[in-house]
Amino acid sequence: MSTNNTTTSAYTDFHLQFIAGEWQTGKDDSSNTNTNPYNGDTLVEIQQATKDQLNEAYDAASQTQEAWAKQTPATRAAVLYKVVNILDQRQEEIVDWLIKESGSTRIKAMVEFSATRAITLEAATFPNRVHGEIRPSNTPGKENFIYREPIGVVAVISPWNFPLHLTQRSIAPALALGNAVVLKPASDTPVTGGLLLAKVFEEAGLPKGLLNVVVGSGSEIGDAIVEHKAPSLVSFTGSTSVGKHIGELANGGEYIKQVALELGGNSPFVVLKDADIEQAVKAAAFGKFLHQGQICIAINRVIVEDEIYDDFVERFLAHVKTLNVGDPNKQDTAVGPIINAKQVKSLKEKIAKAQEEGAKMILSGEIEGQVVPPHIFTEVTREMDLSRNEVFGPLVGIIRAKDEDDALSIANDSMYGLSSAVFTADMQKGLRFARGIRAGMTHINDISVNDESNTPFGGEKNSGIGRFNGEWVLEEFTRTHWISMQNEPREYPF
Ligand code: TAP
Repeated sequence: MSTNNTTTSAYTDFHLQFIAGEWQTGKDDSSNTNTNPYNGDTLVEIQQATKDQLNEAYDAASQTQEAWAKQTPATRAAVLYKVVNILDQRQEEIVDWLIKESGSTRIKAMVEFSATRAITLEAATFPNRVHGEIRPSNTPGKENFIYREPIGVVAVISPWNFPLHLTQRSIAPALALGNAVVLKPASDTPVTGGLLLAKVFEEAGLPKGLLNVVVGSGSEIGDAIVEHKAPSLVSFTGSTSVGKHIGELANGGEYIKQVALELGGNSPFVVLKDADIEQAVKAAAFGKFLHQGQICIAINRVIVEDEIYDDFVERFLAHVKTLNVGDPNKQDTAVGPIINAKQVKSLKEKIAKAQEEGAKMILSGEIEGQVVPPHIFTEVTREMDLSRNEVFGPLVGIIRAKDEDDALSIANDSMYGLSSAVFTADMQKGLRFARGIRAGMTHINDISVNDESNTPFGGEKNSGIGRFNGEWVLEEFTRTHWISMQNEPREYPF
C-alpha cells in the first residue's frame, strides 16, 4: 500500500495569494506582516494583492462558475466530504495555526475547529437539498415552476475573531450550491481566515478558479471587492460600521447586489431571581471570557435581578479569579491575548471610561503585552458605555434589575439584537422572557455563545441582515427563478 505524503506534510507557501487556482506573489508595494498576538513572532510576510489581481480573481470565478454549477450534486458534495476528511487529518495543524495566528486558547481553537467541521458537513448535504416548486396558475394553460439556482459569484469578507469558522460558514455553502467565491480575509488572520482553507479545498480537488483568496487591506481593496461587477452577493462578517459602509456601496454604485451582513452584537445575559446561581455563574464566565470576549455573540451585559445581585456578584468574582490567564498554547489557559495593539488600546480606554462613569471595578489586573486579564465592574447602569457598546474584550459590567420586567427592558435597550440568554428555574417563564427579547437568537439556561450548523444564526437591528446555517443559508446563497410555461395559445385583449 502506498502512502501519500501530501496529506501528512504541513502546508507551506502562506506568503502567496491564491488566485485562479495558482499560488502567486502579491504585486502591491505593501506587505502584510502576520504576527503571533501572544509573543509578537512574525509568522509570515505576505506581499499584498493589487486591484489588477483582484480583477484576475473575479475573472477566474466568473469563468469557472457555470461549469461548476452544472456538475452533478454528487460531484459537488464529494468535494465537501473530502474537505471534512482533510480537516480531520489536519486537525492538529489547523488548531496550531488558530492558536498562533488568532491568539485562540486551545479550548477556543477546538470549539472553532468543531464548528468549522460541522458547517462543512452540513454544506455537503446542500447540493442534494436544493429544490424548486410548482405553483398553480390563474391563466388557462399555464404552469408555474420556481427554480432555485446558484447566485453566481459571491464576495466574502471575513473577520479575525473566529477566522476559520466564519470564513468557512460562507464559502462552504457558497461552493456547495454551485457558486464561485472571491474571499478577502481579515488582515490579522490571512492564514486561518483564508489561505489555509484554500489549501484544504485545493487538496480536496476543487476545480481551479472557483475559490480565490485575495490578501489586501480592507481600506485598499475592500471597496473594489464590493463594487466589482462580478459578485451578485456580498457576504460580510465584521463590525457594524464597516457593514453599513458595505451595504451602502453594494446598493449605491453602478451595480446593485444582495448583501448578507453579520455584524456586531451586545448580548444580554439575564439572571432571574429563581435561577440556579452556581450554574449561571459558570455560564457567565465561559460565555464572557471565551476567546477573551472577542466574539460577536459573547456576553456583553450581565443583568441580574436585585434579590440575587450581591450573591451572584460574590460567586462570579470568586469563580473568575480562578481562571488561568496567559499563554494560549497551554492546555488550561482560559484567557489568552487580544488580537492586536489597537484593540488593547480600545480596551484600556473602556476601562478608564467605566471608572469615570462611576462603575465600581471589583476585579482588574496588569495588562502585559496584549494579554488583558478579566476586569469586572458592578453597579453598571444601562446608560454607561459598557452597556451601550460592544466591548469585544475581557471586561464585563453587571447591571442590577429591579424585577423581571426591568430586566427585559434593559435587555432590549440596545441598537443591537444578535444573541441573548436568560437563566431561570421556570422554563415557561424563560420562554416568555426569551420571546420578549428582540434578537435573532436567545438561549434559556445557557450562554449566548451558541452556533449549530442546522439552526438559523443571525441578528436583528444593527446586528445585520440575513441568516447563516441550514436551509436559511441555502436560500441566501441561491437565487429564485420563476419560469412559466404557456401550454396552449393565450388570448390577449389586443
Ligand atoms: P471589521 O473592521 O469590520 O473587519 C471585518 C472585515 O472587513 C475584515 O476583513 C476587514 O479587513 C474588512 N474591511 C475593513 N474595512 C473594509 C472596507 N472599507 N471595505 C471592505 N472590507 C473592509 O471588523 P473586525 O474588527 O475584524 O471584527 C470585529 C467586529 O466584527 C465586531 O464588531 C464583531 O462583533 C463583528 N463580528 C461579527 C460577527 C457576526 S457573526 N455578527 C462575527 C465576528 C465579528 P481588514 O482586516 O483588512 O481591515
